[in-house]
Amino acid sequence: MLYLIGLGLSYESDITVRGLEVVKKCKRVYLEAYTSILMAADQSSLEQFYGREVILADRELVETGSDQILAGAQEDDIAFLVVGDPFGATTHTDLIIRARELGIKVEAIHNASVMNAVGACGLQLYQFGQTVSLVFFTDSWRPDSFYNKVMENRKIGLHTLLLLDIKVKEQSIENMARGRLIYEPPRYMDIATAASQLLEIEELRGEKAYTPDTPCVAISRLGSPSQTFKAASLKELAEFDSGEPLHSLVMLGRQVHDLELEYLYQYVDNKDEFKKLVEADQEYFKPPPYVAPVENDDEDL
Ligand SMILES: C[S@@+](CC[C@H](N)C(=O)[O-])C[C@H]1O[C@@H](n2cnc3c(N)ncnc32)[C@H](O)[C@@H]1O
Repeated sequence: MLYLIGLGLSYESDITVRGLEVVKKCKRVYLEAYTSILMAADQSSLEQFYGREVILADRELVETGSDQILAGAQEDDIAFLVVGDPFGATTHTDLIIRARELGIKVEAIHNASVMNAVGACGLQLYQFGQTVSLVFFTDSWRPDSFYNKVMENRKIGLHTLLLLDIKVKEQSIENMARGRLIYEPPRYMDIATAASQLLEIEELRGEKAYTPDTPCVAISRLGSPSQTFKAASLKELAEFDSGEPLHSLVMLGRQVHDLELEYLYQYVDNKDEFKKLVEADQEYFKPPPYVAPVENDDEDL
């Protein structure tokens, strides 16, 4: 059996009781180590907590060496640990499909994910539209495919959860070109970088999916001992020091409920200013006023 086991968001002990029981009985335990991180734990603290070896699975191993992970899983139990939930913005569908092709049974043991814990900021999960990812811009690559999705969400008044890029075990272009297996230190996109990239793309596209004054919520280290939220305009967040990773950003939609707003006030510098931003932002994409159809006197004839 291949078990995909969610680890939750922060501590070694965030694993579920069933997840832990399975980890203890598995022949091999892999930790998927490139799509998210546990903020208050690492490979060695997990090994200590589980009382057994944990093998780091980088992108290369998962994407091109899945048969190595799955070796023997027809008879033995193998655990594949994923930070958050195994299906929360990291669906390891390739691995699951490959396992099924090899006649291996698959079971998922779920856990909390950024996708649901984001509700802790006070915005209703029901009011979120499509989630998007922001990748680090390079000098020659500044992808803006997220922009249309943000626009669609904003048009129908929904909030947008923006997940921010993580670069782990990346090679510089020079090292790659020379075939040198030297890796750059890990990088995690912070709130200021995300907000600046969003502003740059709006400047280029000019379609007003959002503006520098659009209200947003910066979400840092959800579920960890140092979790923080900050509600402010996009341009204010472009200057915000969000501290240690991980971070996500939520851009508000037009349908902000009074209770959501009330909740957000605890994270703002100035309640009146923030309220004004939200009210001004609600003017964008407002549905046109309802106009009753003209009655046609000839209709009954
Ligand atoms: C590709 S997603 C993986 C999500 C994970 N499988 C889960 O279910 O939570 C990783 C991104 O989600 C966001 N994220 C994950 N955990 C977070 C946390 N605890 N606090 C803030 N953002 C988080 C970050 O933007 C991070 O780069």
